[in-house]
Amino acid sequence: MCAQQTILSNCSTDALADAAAKLRAGGLVAFPTETVYGLGADATNERAVARIYEVKGRPNDHPVIVHLADINQLDDWVVDIPDYAIALARTFWPGPMTLILPRSAKAADFITGGQESVGIRIPKNPLALTLIKLAGVGIAAPSANRFGAISPTSARDVQEEIGAFLNPTTDLILDGGSSQVGVESTIIECLGARPKILRPGAIIQEMIEEVTGLTIDESSSTIRASGTLEQHYAPQAKVHLIDINKPTSEVAAGSGFLALAEIPTPNGAVRLAAPVNDEEYARVLYDALRQGDRLNLPTIYIVPPIGAGVAVAIRDRLKRASA
Ligand code: TXA
Ligand code: MG
Repeated sequence: MCAQQTILSNCSTDALADAAAKLRAGGLVAFPTETVYGLGADATNERAVARIYEVKGRPNDHPVIVHLADINQLDDWVVDIPDYAIALARTFWPGPMTLILPRSAKAADFITGGQESVGIRIPKNPLALTLIKLAGVGIAAPSANRFGAISPTSARDVQEEIGAFLNPTTDLILDGGSSQVGVESTIIECLGARPKILRPGAIIQEMIEEVTGLTIDESSSTIRASGTLEQHYAPQAKVHLIDINKPTSEVAAGSGFLALAEIPTPNGAVRLAAPVNDEEYARVLYDALRQGDRLNLPTIYIVPPIGAGVAVAIRDRLKRASA
């Protein structure tokens, strides 16, 4: 877990203080959150945020989420918060949830992609929270992967994805171990009379409906979210999805295989993970896909989980990975 390269740092108190200073000075800091690793910059520094786009190779009209440490900071960034969004914030923050809210003047065009709304998240990971507090500014952070690739769930993944594009003097990768949730936050649009789910995650529809007393608005959104592109979260390997009720005999020997532990490995396939439940499936999903690429497997066969809950988010990401 410790520094092999100048750019990788553990999460000691000194390292967090150094990382916060780097953020304030306009540098980039990749940091752990409970969902995936983020690539952070001072959300009020246009030049720093522009470097996020350069490092990710992401089109620069895509909005980024602003990460805060405390719900009291919300009023700086947003205006006219609907009551149901306040209920969600109070219940699920800190946690794996992003709210899209009407922006204040502080949320500049270079954060919102020119849209009138801003994405806000208070992550639960204590290292992330400490970093944001020490930095004393909102932290703009997309997932710390190259555009279109799989989100990183460890510091090693971040190093592999973007290490070569970071500057060892001004930037840093904080190593806080593996992400606990493993898929990106639930994104909830809070701009209309009812909440809309733009990206499923660990905070699921039933939880949102229970807390708000409202049913989810199922109509499609007009706002842009890059994670909602058809092909996203894709490994190099070709991903084939197999229905849980179909036999796995079509799996070619030498291919990767991912399914719940109860489903046996087909003959000659390379088992990439055998999670025992949907939560573990989410946690290991991206690492399993990366492992397939590290092994240079041409194809990965995957049996998606069928349940509700976080299985919805897993199926969403798998659909995109296989598109
Ligand atoms: O779990 C997560 O959300 C991680 C961690 C690092 O917090 N972050 C993350 O960021 O997944 P990113 O940029 O990879 O995905 C955020 C998605 C993007 O698709 C972006 O377009 C959308 O959120 N988004 C951000 N701000 C938005 C806004 N104002 N309106 C609509 N979509 C927005
Ligand atoms: Mg992303």
